[in-house]
Amino acid sequence: MSEDSPEAIRLRNVMTDRLVREGRMRDARLEAAFRAVPRHLFIPKIPLREAYGDQAILTKQIAGQPVSSISQPSMIAIMLDQLALQTGQRVLEIGAGTGYTAALMAHLVGESGHIVTVDIDEDLVTGARAHLQAAGYDDGRVQVICGDGASGWSAGAPYDRVILTVGATDIAPAWREQLKVGGRLVLPLDLRNNGVQFSIAFDRMDDCLIARTFYPCGFIRLRGALAQEQTESAADIAAGTDVGAAILSAVSQLLPHVGEQLWRRHMNRQAFGRATLDGLLLRAYPVDTGYQAAEGEVVHDRRWTRFVVRWADAAG
Ligand SMILES: C[S@@+](CC[C@H](N)C(=O)[O-])C[C@H]1O[C@@H](n2cnc3c(N)ncnc32)[C@H](O)[C@@H]1O
Repeated sequence: MSEDSPEAIRLRNVMTDRLVREGRMRDARLEAAFRAVPRHLFIPKIPLREAYGDQAILTKQIAGQPVSSISQPSMIAIMLDQLALQTGQRVLEIGAGTGYTAALMAHLVGESGHIVTVDIDEDLVTGARAHLQAAGYDDGRVQVICGDGASGWSAGAPYDRVILTVGATDIAPAWREQLKVGGRLVLPLDLRNNGVQFSIAFDRMDDCLIARTFYPCGFIRLRGALAQEQTESAADIAAGTDVGAAILSAVSQLLPHVGEQLWRRHMNRQAFGRATLDGLLLRAYPVDTGYQAAEGEVVHDRRWTRFVVRWADAAG
């Protein structure tokens, strides 16, 4: 294990204290994981101070396009809170990247748990393995696999939890099938393929997935079999989002709380058509089960999934 310097420990505690103050850490176990895992060892070329800022850091581009990054600590905290990991659980992550999220999850599930993390690029997989080793997570608890995450990793199934740290526009059959009934799937989902992503936690029932929590987010999109270009009309909506985002960013600098509230309302509208998500009921069915929408339900069909949106106050 590489040395974890006193300065790195100090900066990591400053970062974690800030996340606690901002209300991102509702669970003491999550806080302990952020204090323990040496984030800087997962981005060894990045200066220490930058490594412990609350920002995503780009780690790989292809033809000028971002394809990999280490995610923003506050966003990881939100998603791990949504994932609600317990000691001893088996987890599948799609999007190993640097391996940092996998290390946090390994800390959370403990020695009796197991993490499988998949990335599509061999160089990223090699890097993630080296970072995990440097940080002391080389006892077999974390398995890093090279492959297209669209197929999951059936050899390690069934999982208690499946998490994507890369943006999707659909739910691949493998993610649902490799998840135990009663298990939880958390993924950044662009439901309408219009460039507006929400990190959504779904619980697996026998026949469908039921969404529990929603947070706006912005992840690099999936490559491989499930890669999807934004549609033309969707690109227009996304352009509108950019203009809205510019205005909101100006407001946010003057009035951060008001800015965040307005931004959330704006994102909610773009994704779900309403400013508040109170009363939103979202379910996801495998498209081939032919679920027929009832009155008051709106359906968004993707290649593999029929998403059904309903509002608690809607008739029917
Ligand atoms: C935002 S990064 C993940 C960050 C990572 N969790 C970490 O802690 O550093 C997204 C990752 O998803 C990977 N990815 C993209 N498409 C993929 C696919 N189809 N299967 C597996 N990984 C994929 C990218 O190569 C990239 O490394």
